[in-house]
Amino acid sequence: MALQKKGMHGAWTSRWTFIMAATGSAVGLGNMWKFPYVAGSNGGGAFVLIYLACILLIGVPVMMAEVLIGRHGRQSPINSMNEAVHVSGADLRWRSVGWIGVVAGLLILSFYAVIAGWALDYILLMSSGELQGINGATASAAFDNLLSNPGRLIAWQTLFLMLCVGVVIGGVKKGLGIAVETLMPLLFLMLLLLLVFAVLKGNFAAAVGFLFSFDLDALTWRGVLEAMGQAFFTLSIGMGAIMAYGAYMPQDANIGKTILIVAFFDSAVAIISGLIIFSIVFATPGIEPSAGPGLMFISLPVAFGGMPGGLLIGALFFVLVSIAAWSSAISLLEPCVAWLMEAKNISRVKANFIIAGVAWVLGLGSVFSFNIWADYKFAGFTYFDFLDFITANIMLPISGLLITLFVGYLIKRDIIDTEMQGTSERIIRLWELTIKYIAPFAIALVFIMGVYDKFTS
Ligand code: PHE
Repeated sequence: MALQKKGMHGAWTSRWTFIMAATGSAVGLGNMWKFPYVAGSNGGGAFVLIYLACILLIGVPVMMAEVLIGRHGRQSPINSMNEAVHVSGADLRWRSVGWIGVVAGLLILSFYAVIAGWALDYILLMSSGELQGINGATASAAFDNLLSNPGRLIAWQTLFLMLCVGVVIGGVKKGLGIAVETLMPLLFLMLLLLLVFAVLKGNFAAAVGFLFSFDLDALTWRGVLEAMGQAFFTLSIGMGAIMAYGAYMPQDANIGKTILIVAFFDSAVAIISGLIIFSIVFATPGIEPSAGPGLMFISLPVAFGGMPGGLLIGALFFVLVSIAAWSSAISLLEPCVAWLMEAKNISRVKANFIIAGVAWVLGLGSVFSFNIWADYKFAGFTYFDFLDFITANIMLPISGLLITLFVGYLIKRDIIDTEMQGTSERIIRLWELTIKYIAPFAIALVFIMGVYDKFTS
């Protein structure tokens, strides 16, 4: 028993390391690239409010459930889930939850590395000074130029995956633990520096007005669905990452409080990133806040390029984005690596290279989706769009829904009682209420409406 409680992969040095690791996983491209433009195209304030409600009512309860299963099993998500199913005497088909999560994680890693590669490329592009004083058309051309060059994309994708392997190979304490303890404070520091720059040089008042004003008319039903999907993606739930990290959490750490802190950090970073980006965007005439996915790679460079000293700050911004992406991607690699080590009894080093190799090969399809395969479409999707769609809109909601049902209705009571020790009665009661009655219905609604919307519009 003692052996099992420690697990073969080790554990975080402290609760604080878990908080940094989980925050590192949660804070990523979702917060810096996706949140501002999705909020922007859904009218700002009202969307932000719904998003925060989803974090609290769906995100936090599911995250607590994942950590609970992980910490009980102390193994990769697949085997932790197996363990919980066996101990609870549930139907063995529930084991598929772990599988869906890990496979979704691997697919996400494959395209996440490609997009993170763009951010790495932009660090160089910004610091080269080439973009000084550019306008919208040249900024689009610079971005297209990057996307049309498979060799350049593959080089960055490969480098990014190697950076991830470099961390995960070191194991839980010496690899992941040390990385997040160093990277996260650095990330917060850079975020604050950029916030100061945005307040001093940008149009901060307009950004605040935009993110916090309530234009209910601009919010559509579809926007509500996007807010829920975003809450899932940004908290890294439904894909094994948080379950894997939970497996390394110290037994005396209070799950309720810890997860609330992580969710708070994640939301704070999304909102601060939004404030930074919109302050800069609103200070530049002719750029729309609803610019869509190109907001970060086209609009921002134009805005930075027009400000004195802006390009250096722009380079710093893309370093920040790259770090955020890096600390997220390692949490996608770790669950697969842990599983391969358990299943095939191979070393951590070997497992890292095998999984990263698979992610690399799968990622080539995403690279080609932006150039030589751009015209090959399946049901209207490029390979990249397809992976993005089936992971975020199909696999994550299904896995999240199954987790709420399993933990809400089937799991053995003992597991909850043991893992929730230390969490206050009130939080436990609220958690049970949401995980049983609110989250499953909300997720089912998102899922059905999201899929319906996709195929009817
Ligand atoms: N949460 C990350 C983000 O917001 C994405 C991610 C998903 C990371 C799943 C790890 C696991 O960018």
